[in-house]
Amino acid sequence: MNILVTGGAGYIGSITCVQLIAAGHRPIILDSLVNAKAEVVNRIEQVSGQRPVFVQADVRDRARLVQTLREHAVDAVIHFAGLKAVGESVAQPWRYYDNNVQGSLVLIDAMREVGIQTLVFSSSATVYAETLDQPLHEGSVISSNSPYGRTKLMAEQIFSDVVAAEPTWSITALRYFNPVGAHPSACLGEDPQGVPNNLMPFIAQVAVGRRSALHIFGNDYPTPDGTGVRDYIHVMDLADGHLAALRYAHGRPGHHVFNLGSGRGLSVLELLSAFGRACGKSLPYEFSPRRPGDLAAFWANPSLAEELLNWRVQRSLDDMCADSWRWQSQNPNGYESS
Ligand code: NAD
Ligand code: UFG
Repeated sequence: MNILVTGGAGYIGSITCVQLIAAGHRPIILDSLVNAKAEVVNRIEQVSGQRPVFVQADVRDRARLVQTLREHAVDAVIHFAGLKAVGESVAQPWRYYDNNVQGSLVLIDAMREVGIQTLVFSSSATVYAETLDQPLHEGSVISSNSPYGRTKLMAEQIFSDVVAAEPTWSITALRYFNPVGAHPSACLGEDPQGVPNNLMPFIAQVAVGRRSALHIFGNDYPTPDGTGVRDYIHVMDLADGHLAALRYAHGRPGHHVFNLGSGRGLSVLELLSAFGRACGKSLPYEFSPRRPGDLAAFWANPSLAEELLNWRVQRSLDDMCADSWRWQSQNPNGYESS
């Protein structure tokens, strides 16, 4: 299939493009590069042996979208494009609603004009309300405590209403848990700008000497070792989840929702110690106060995806750390040095 991949130059999108090519699909990347580098397209070619079409455009540019969908005879869309920093969304909510919600609306509008009705959307575990009832399943209560999370909830609701209005659509929301790791070639990985917000890239930068120590946000949570517990998923498994979702959803009308997670919760200290094994040294850390808005623990029940998509995670915690370390050590400044 010809697949339009919005946000395809980003962390998860780029690795999904490699897996799409490996499965015989033709990705067409549309990305504004607001949070990515053009070098990523060279890296996708290097890894996959095929250069994807790259259109530098904003997903809110309806005319470019319609033109791209037509010109490349697109069969289905995977919609990664969006802003994703929770703290920034609190400070600049208007940017998040415009980019993430308006972007999704323009995409639907353009797809309607061209007559394409298969869409896979990057949602997030952040749409779930705080609850002690773990693991989270697709029927768990939803509600979000940040503008970023609300953009994901709103987009899911819009997509559900589109399917209700025009039941021939197939729209799949994939609720990712915590994506980590890199492509095993070390050519593609996460390249955050400035100080990383997320745990794994921060640890990787400590390991490579860019940061002096990890600050662990809270050691008094009601978890086995007092640090926060999350469901980390290898980005390669996540990418494969998109292929499984496409296989399932193309030609199957409806609004589908799946958790993509491992089903296992890991603490900050457990992840840090696994990373230490991968890089061969123990990494410095200190305990800091809790980060506002953080939850103690959540992880996925991935059984719906296992049952219907025939997908489950294949990679271990050690794979996540080894691939993340290989990427970080071979690209200490991310894509910058290329
Ligand atoms: P990323 O920032 O690396 O990738 C997003 C890509 O979208 C970037 O390349 C960026 O340049 C592009 N983009 C943003 N706004 C755009 C616009 N208006 N038009 C065109 N391109 C635009 O992030 P990622 O980690 O790869 O995340 C991909 C998607 O998955 C996002 O929607 C994110 O919200 C969602 N998600 C990510 C995580 C995570 O922890 N990484 C967790 C859950 C959900
Ligand atoms: N943490 C630290 N130190 C750091 C960074 C994180 O101790 O420097 C801790 C956090 O307190 C948390 C855990 O590591 O306990 C994971 O934190 P991340 O920031 O990596 O991930 P979150 O679970 O907070 O958030 C991620 C995405 C959000 C998404 C959410 C739910 O960043 O976009 O998962 O899917 F909304």
